[in-house]
Amino acid sequence: MKITMIGTGYVGLVSGACFADFGHDVVCVDKDAGKIAAIESGRMPIYEPGLDHLVGSNAAAGRLSFTTDLGEGVKGADAIFIAVGTPSRRGDGHADLSYVYAAAKEIAAAVDGPTVIVTKSTVPVGTGDEVERIVREARSDVEIAVVSNPEFLREGAAIGDFKRPDRVVVGTTGDQRAIDVMAQIYRPLNLNQAPVMFTGRRTAELIKYAANAFLATKITFINEMADLCEAVGAEVQDVARGIGLDNRIGSKFLHAGPGYGGSCFPKDTLALVKTGQDHDAPIRIVETVVQVNDLRKRAMGRKIVKALGGEARGKTVALLGLTFKPNTDDMRDAPSIAIVQALEDAGATIVAYDPEGMDVAAPLMPQVTMAKDAYEAAKGADALVLVTEWDAFRALDLKRLAASMNQPTLVDLRNIYPIQEAQNAGFTLSRVGGKGTEK
Ligand code: UGA
Repeated sequence: MKITMIGTGYVGLVSGACFADFGHDVVCVDKDAGKIAAIESGRMPIYEPGLDHLVGSNAAAGRLSFTTDLGEGVKGADAIFIAVGTPSRRGDGHADLSYVYAAAKEIAAAVDGPTVIVTKSTVPVGTGDEVERIVREARSDVEIAVVSNPEFLREGAAIGDFKRPDRVVVGTTGDQRAIDVMAQIYRPLNLNQAPVMFTGRRTAELIKYAANAFLATKITFINEMADLCEAVGAEVQDVARGIGLDNRIGSKFLHAGPGYGGSCFPKDTLALVKTGQDHDAPIRIVETVVQVNDLRKRAMGRKIVKALGGEARGKTVALLGLTFKPNTDDMRDAPSIAIVQALEDAGATIVAYDPEGMDVAAPLMPQVTMAKDAYEAAKGADALVLVTEWDAFRALDLKRLAASMNQPTLVDLRNIYPIQEAQNAGFTLSRVGGKGTEK
């Protein structure tokens, strides 16, 4: 199959490289000439484990190429995927579809034969209808079908998620040729027995938002349960295990923490809320999830001040991990941003270390001093705060860290350090949803 991928962001670049790895012939298109040149010379625009190798090997094999020329890129394509950004629209939280519609117009102008146009970007219900209208209005002479094929990959585990998905969702308006093309594109996944589910187009668009909103709700549920655990002296990790072992609930996405962040959950929950309100079918549970999660990130700053003894002025706080999750350099809506703001407002000085995110983080938090490793960050600090659970932080020498600090206070916002180990190292420990050892 000849596939064109419009957009080389997270979803576009990973999907393009994986489709090429399946043996398809893929052209990735992006307007940003600098980005295309960088990718072609082996420099990835994002940090994603294994991506540089996957792109390099498929480009070398001649199955993956890059261009800034959309007209050139879509020539002869069996399927044209739109994988451009759909950020939150400034002011109202609706998904900003201007990049999607601009891509649809350019595709309409360039398309040279029958093809399937696929929205892979996360787009609100009804976007496929509008993309179809835009293309048909401009080009009644070509046979096109518009399909929704949402992507469920996670950052940091993107390649594995794409190649071994729990399911593939394809939404069509019943066009048999489109169904056949999509089935052929995903046929290599048959080996992994990944179910490919065909639905209506609007349904597929909604499945994506429903999945992300449900996962965000699950996280928020356990986060509120963590607060209750702290109040009543219970342990949230055991509560999570105790409910998660029930197959109907499942153990995943029940890790309490500083609140969800990233490029997806915050914007997608908000966009779903807006869609519900617009259609007089409010999703009140998700409205509450959005509010609770926003407040939680800043509340983590207050939790740290409490661990410092209630006063942050004149004190130094060392943060370990700044990105919204490990194995990415993505800082979008990262809890660390709200935590830094709250601590700065309280008068603290902040030092931080992150294995991959410091370059992206530095301009977002100009007052923060970036350290060269966890030990340098902790030196002389009054509190050490684990914000993001990078593997590199799991086996740190806690004794060495505690001994180098002005005050050995550890705030573990991801509950990765065993209580006994932290205590033995001399730390006063504050955790999420558990007793810890704070006074
Ligand atoms: C999420 C979804 O998991 C993907 O399925 C989806 O494709 C993607 O959004 C998207 O729409 O593009 P991602 O944002 O990469 O993926 O990261 P997650 O692993 O889902 O984590 C999101 C946030 O939730 C992070 O801040 C993470 O720390 C937090 N989280 C996750 C928790 O606090 N607790 C958990 O148990 C799980």
